[in-house]
Amino acid sequence: METDCTVLNVDKLTYAAVPGALDGIKAHPRYRFVQQDICEQDALKALFSDFQPDAVMHLAAESHVDRSIDGAAEFIQTNVFGTYAMLQAALEYWRELPLAARENFRFQHISTDDMAEYLTKRDPTQFAKELQQVPGVVGYTT
Ligand SMILES: NC(=O)c1ccc[n+]([C@@H]2O[C@H](COP(=O)([O-])OP(=O)(O)OC[C@H]3O[C@@H](n4cnc5c(N)ncnc54)[C@H](O)[C@@H]3O)[C@@H](O)[C@H]2O)c1
Repeated sequence: METDCTVLNVDKLTYAAVPGALDGIKAHPRYRFVQQDICEQDALKALFSDFQPDAVMHLAAESHVDRSIDGAAEFIQTNVFGTYAMLQAALEYWRELPLAARENFRFQHISTDDMAEYLTKRDPTQFAKELQQVPGVVGYTT
């Protein structure tokens, strides 16, 4: 909130959430919170349409990998289908933007470092180059 940006925070508030962590900004005039599951694509589309973001940071995830050994379904649902729903909602929103806004729009997915580590081991320079060529992708740094 040290910029002049307005922030919409979308979170399902799973067991992993720490709602109290945001107590310091919840009354800020440029901050909004919506409790929402990212797997619900229609609801995401409505949020995109209402909020009209310039950029999206997608951090919502089942991130505690050890839990996936006992139950993978929640991981597949949020990390795969939820990420797909986010991308699809963003794409549909982006297609309706004016040209200049399209070029400036950014979607940043903060994913698990384990996969990125695997990919960078493959060929870190090539991986970084490939990422830079994807329109709208902000580069990955280790
Ligand atoms: N924390 C780190 O050090 C670190 C390092 C590398 C990568 N990452 C990646 O960054 C991302 C976020 O990490 P984190 O540490 O903040 O995770 P976290 O588990 O602390 O928080 C995840 C958040 O996502 C929300 N969430 C889960 N499922 C959801 C759903 N279906 N819809 C909406 N919200 C949902 C939870 O309520 C929670 O607030 C993950 O992809 C993680 O792998 C984190």
